[in-house]
Amino acid sequence: MPELQTPIEELCKKLEQCGQGHLAQYLRGVTPQSARENLASQIEAIDLDELNDLIERYITNPAATPPPASIEPAPYYALDGTGPTGGWDAAQYRNAGERLIREGKVACFTVAGGQGSRLGYEGPKGCYPTSCVKDKPLFQLFAESIRANEIKHDCEIPWYIMTSPLNHDATVSFFEAHDCFGLKRDQIMFFNQGVMPSLDAKSGEMLMSDPMHLATNPDGHGGSFKALHVSGALGDMQARGIEHVSYFQVDNPHARVVDQVFLGLHATAPDSSGEFSSKMVAKASWDEKVGVFCSVDGRTEIIEYSDLDESLAKRTEAGGRLSFNAGSIAIHAISVAFIDRIINDKSAALPYHRAIKKVPYFDLSTGRPVEPSSNNAVKLEKFVFDGIPIAGRSIVVETDRVEEFAPVKNATGTDSIVSSKQLQSQRAARWLEANGTQVPWNQDGSVNATIEISPLTATCADELAGKELPVSIEPGSIVVL
Ligand code: UD1
Repeated sequence: MPELQTPIEELCKKLEQCGQGHLAQYLRGVTPQSARENLASQIEAIDLDELNDLIERYITNPAATPPPASIEPAPYYALDGTGPTGGWDAAQYRNAGERLIREGKVACFTVAGGQGSRLGYEGPKGCYPTSCVKDKPLFQLFAESIRANEIKHDCEIPWYIMTSPLNHDATVSFFEAHDCFGLKRDQIMFFNQGVMPSLDAKSGEMLMSDPMHLATNPDGHGGSFKALHVSGALGDMQARGIEHVSYFQVDNPHARVVDQVFLGLHATAPDSSGEFSSKMVAKASWDEKVGVFCSVDGRTEIIEYSDLDESLAKRTEAGGRLSFNAGSIAIHAISVAFIDRIINDKSAALPYHRAIKKVPYFDLSTGRPVEPSSNNAVKLEKFVFDGIPIAGRSIVVETDRVEEFAPVKNATGTDSIVSSKQLQSQRAARWLEANGTQVPWNQDGSVNATIEISPLTATCADELAGKELPVSIEPGSIVVL
């Protein structure tokens, strides 16, 4: 816990001014002093200045958002070479992106605040063994990919990793225990995301999880902008001359850590303001759990799967294709100038999303723990992609699903380690086949072999050219390159 900066009485006055008199009264009575200071510093980490407004807006007087006048599918740069402004030439944009990377103007940025609990894994998700033969953890796959790109472009690519208070220390120790998987320690910056207080759903009062701790929840990946600023990571980017970050989630081993064509489009396409660009894949089904790129009253934004009207999600074009088919894979290019604007310009603040949850708490009035039988608390979090409509002109670029989306989210079924490993083998098989290797495909398009290609061997099919490759792969075999 950081050292307390505000005198306790001053903090209590602030609490009283934002409807938290119950907590001020309790804090004054906490003994010994060290315990009082500890609780006070937890409270100090909360932005009390915005609390009145948040309680009004999300608890006591939530105004229904008026429905937009129009929701259309967002335009995008498609894999077939068509785009919002006509045809587009990948080679031209590849050069532009390559230049940015080579000149050291691009950093990687990974949001890794989540735990592996949905996977049934205790620990930071990035430590989860993921590659299909060697069980390399997600962090290692990204680190090796970054290293491969550094070698290819003869540059250094700094890597910013956002952790949460729950996994920060474990994440840093993991990297240090593995010599940062071949990267330099000083090119990786870990920083903690912020937390929000869990609020009583009726009164807006901050809840305590036990006599000594506030009940809090992570402030969402949208909290990353503020966390970049508070931690000094943004200043570090500016000092290093970084102009754009390549943003990806920790759960996708296929994320291209830096993509020349995408970065080139982001920075130089005529309809891009170079602030916030995104990648999409064609949705696998109308109810796939991915955010969808829409044009809402003329501005591009992502509507989260849970918020998209079912009739829109199911709508199809003449040929049967989903109208709203642009699924977000949570890969973005974001300019450092835009992050700076989000932090410093109050009119560009990201909104909060509100969820009502069952949160056990310590009742200060009775001095007893309470296990609520129904939802009792409001949790507020921000989504990074709410930056898209704030950006001037934001573009969306299609990518191939197998090439770039093999997420590991669930213990079984869709987006599980099993489905991810199948996709990893499938991508590796494609790369080999493109270079002349005979591959045993199954009827359903999967591959009848387990194949792992290290990012240090190749990060795309072209990089296998000229390497010593198998002539053919035996059905059922295991191949590591
Ligand atoms: C997310 C996106 C969805 C997208 C899909 C693609 C959201 C709300 N939805 O869904 O639009 O189509 O990925 O795979 O993001 N994280 C933090 N701190 C937090 C919360 C999350 O670092 O406070 C990180 C997690 O570690 C994870 C990522 O953000 O890497 C995604 O969060 P999650 O809540 O799991 O979203 P999904 O349901 O996977």
